[in-house]
Amino acid sequence: MYDLRELYQEVVMDHNRRPRNFRKLDDANRSAEGFNPLCGDRVSVYLNVDGETISDIGFIAEGCAISKATSSMMTERIKGEPVEEAERVFDAFRHMVTRKPEEDYDAELLGDLEILSGVSEYPARIKCATLSWHTLHSALNDQDKRVTTE
Ligand code: FES
Repeated sequence: MYDLRELYQEVVMDHNRRPRNFRKLDDANRSAEGFNPLCGDRVSVYLNVDGETISDIGFIAEGCAISKATSSMMTERIKGEPVEEAERVFDAFRHMVTRKPEEDYDAELLGDLEILSGVSEYPARIKCATLSWHTLHSALNDQDKRVTTE
């Protein structure tokens, strides 16, 4: 069993320095922009949805290390997955970072994202960790195209 706290620092720093899928998809058929008015940070999520599958995903972020690392890890987890699975992971992730200490979460569904479970102890960082997920949800559901954390 690995130590989540040690891994957290290491993984967030790595994804912040070398974000995966950090690019705009010029041929995206879904996209949305997320904004955190408390700090001014932004993330844009670009998707290619092919039938019911997310065949490609990219993002561009101007934000803190946690928002950038979470966005990067999110793209790795859901690329190639059915839309329905992405929504399930979104729900599980949101629950994990907003849960009460005694509540459990779906580690199997979340995979590597479990490393971010400690965010639940730092309420100020929850919005950093969920910004890209709300943006993804908006892009998938063709909602407003612009979401805020407030
Ligand atoms: Fe702005 Fe984290 S401080 S999203």
